[in-house]
Amino acid sequence: MNNEATSLPDRVPYHLAIIMDGNGRWARARGMPRLAGHRAGVENLRRILRASSEFGIKILTIYAFSTENWGRPEAEVRGLMNILEAVIDRELGQLHANGVQLRHIGELEGLSPILQRKVRQAIELTRNNDQLILNVAFNYGGRQELIQAFRRIIADGVPPEQIDETLIDYYLYTAGQPDPDMVVRTGGEMRLSNFLLWQASYAEYYSTPVFWPDFDREELLKAIAQFARRERRYGLVPQT
Ligand code: FPP
Repeated sequence: MNNEATSLPDRVPYHLAIIMDGNGRWARARGMPRLAGHRAGVENLRRILRASSEFGIKILTIYAFSTENWGRPEAEVRGLMNILEAVIDRELGQLHANGVQLRHIGELEGLSPILQRKVRQAIELTRNNDQLILNVAFNYGGRQELIQAFRRIIADGVPPEQIDETLIDYYLYTAGQPDPDMVVRTGGEMRLSNFLLWQASYAEYYSTPVFWPDFDREELLKAIAQFARRERRYGLVPQT
């Protein structure tokens, strides 16, 4: 094992965003149905949430269901909806007890009325928690987020000269939160897939071939170690 990965570096991302990819391939490698992979993904989410809290990460944003995922087979879409509902039903008490503030990013419309109500209730119950913010991107698309922002900016009659980065931030689903410092993608792909297009402009990007259900505490430590080693220049020159 790599020693550097076992101790926590001094610098930890304040806001970590994760593209939890590879559930389907994880399942296929075991001769299991894709939904079994998603269920294993939920188990892993519990572990990573605990580890994130332990490491001092304050905001965790997870990509659970994209606007493009509606195109998957109907049974898988239904399965993912059921998983979200089951997570709320089964995990909310524990999340609340652990000081997790649940937030949703994306469009709630499109989900069943029952699921919408459960998500809203979960947000309401946990709104004053401050150990860690968990943004669940569900029915989320980065382009859709920008479209709804521009529509509301125009509907609010904002004069063009008042449109700047701060104003656009205010109209995003993540309003009031700092941008992600790091985006981790499991499952080996090297793309953002319409995730946090605006917010991730300066995020450090980390891709690992490890499938999401296997991305454990040690793997997270490796990602954080990479983050700590990188110099964030924000378009400026290296510091001397
Ligand atoms: C990508 O793997 C994963 C998803 C589309 C869903 C991720 C969802 C979870 C981990 C559980 C949901 C969590 C909550 C809170 C509702 P993939 O299916 O694209 O994997 P593949 O690329 O190997 O096929």
